[in-house]
Amino acid sequence: EKGGYEYFMAKEIDEQPRAVADTLLGRHSETGEMTLDEVRLTDQDLRDVDKVFIVACGTSYHAGQVAKYAIEHWTRIPCEVELASEFRYRDPVLDRSTLVVAISQSGETMDTLMALRHAKEQKARVLAICNTNGSTIPRESDAVLYTHGGPEIAVASTKAFLTQLTACYLVGLHLAQVRGVMFADEVGAVLERLNQMPAKIRAVLDAMGPVRELAVDLAAAKSVLFIGRHVGYPVALEGALKLKELAYMHAEGFAAGELKHGPISLIEPGTPVVCVVPSPRGRSVLRDKLVSNIQEVRARGARTIVIAEEGDEAVVPFADHVIFVPPTPTLLAPLVTTVPLQVLACEIASARGHDVDQPRNLAKSVTVE
Ligand code: M6R
Repeated sequence: EKGGYEYFMAKEIDEQPRAVADTLLGRHSETGEMTLDEVRLTDQDLRDVDKVFIVACGTSYHAGQVAKYAIEHWTRIPCEVELASEFRYRDPVLDRSTLVVAISQSGETMDTLMALRHAKEQKARVLAICNTNGSTIPRESDAVLYTHGGPEIAVASTKAFLTQLTACYLVGLHLAQVRGVMFADEVGAVLERLNQMPAKIRAVLDAMGPVRELAVDLAAAKSVLFIGRHVGYPVALEGALKLKELAYMHAEGFAAGELKHGPISLIEPGTPVVCVVPSPRGRSVLRDKLVSNIQEVRARGARTIVIAEEGDEAVVPFADHVIFVPPTPTLLAPLVTTVPLQVLACEIASARGHDVDQPRNLAKSVTVE
């Protein structure tokens, strides 16, 4: 059933272009209407929303962190993202005009389910983004958008993450349109860019040879750091989580701007630092700041592994290794920049002789709080 792949994880990483395409399929009509799978929310309910809370755990939480940037940018509604296990117990301020978005691959994560139940008790509307038909979280939600990733067997989440991002973008666009913040043609333009993403993800996958070689090299590292800005920050967190859970290595993701507030002390000669560089065509200020951060860590001896947009040759002098990804609009970039980090973690874990699909101490679905 691994279809010729060594691990389910490798197979699932490779399925990502298809998974993203399926999640996009048939969602938007010519008139811009979005099709949710089960909707017990009216457009008026969505127009009344004055605050969005995203709740999730682990990788799904990182998808939520990316979504915050897109949702606030497109809808202008304040959006917060919170770990489900924290949200539930801090008495969040919620009412019927709050939209709570619960993101869960399995639909059975107890922390997320308890957060959702708490939200419903406070009369908030709940929208689930879920990969598992008929699971508990979508059953208890007011509306559901299913990700069409297909079954994810490996404990480490990969294709679920990319499809969750895709679903979050769709929710953001739909909200923006229903509320009149974006016109149908503007939404259509973003959808067109989204529809180009499966081919871009495929292009990244086809260029992973050097990442595999690099992985063998990094397998003995004591610690790997990841830095990013804007949507590249949650990508850095996700890269670090993958490495922790699969390779059992110390790995940490940081907002690059935070480096000088403490973490830069961690850098020793040879410390690998994976740097997720924003597109130079998008928010170029951010990209320039990230390039300065690369220079800062390099000056302290870091070995820099730079993920940058094709054509951004100016990063090359500061990179010990460069991984180029196709040009992509800033908000959608995590769909391509995450992929090399998944491959890196999978290959490092394999080089260290670990069970890639079944890392120690972990379960695929965490049904206890
Ligand atoms: O099924 P869920 O999306 O609710 O699961 C949430 C986390 O347990 C999950 O993403 C976990 O962090 C993964 N093992 C990460 O690869």
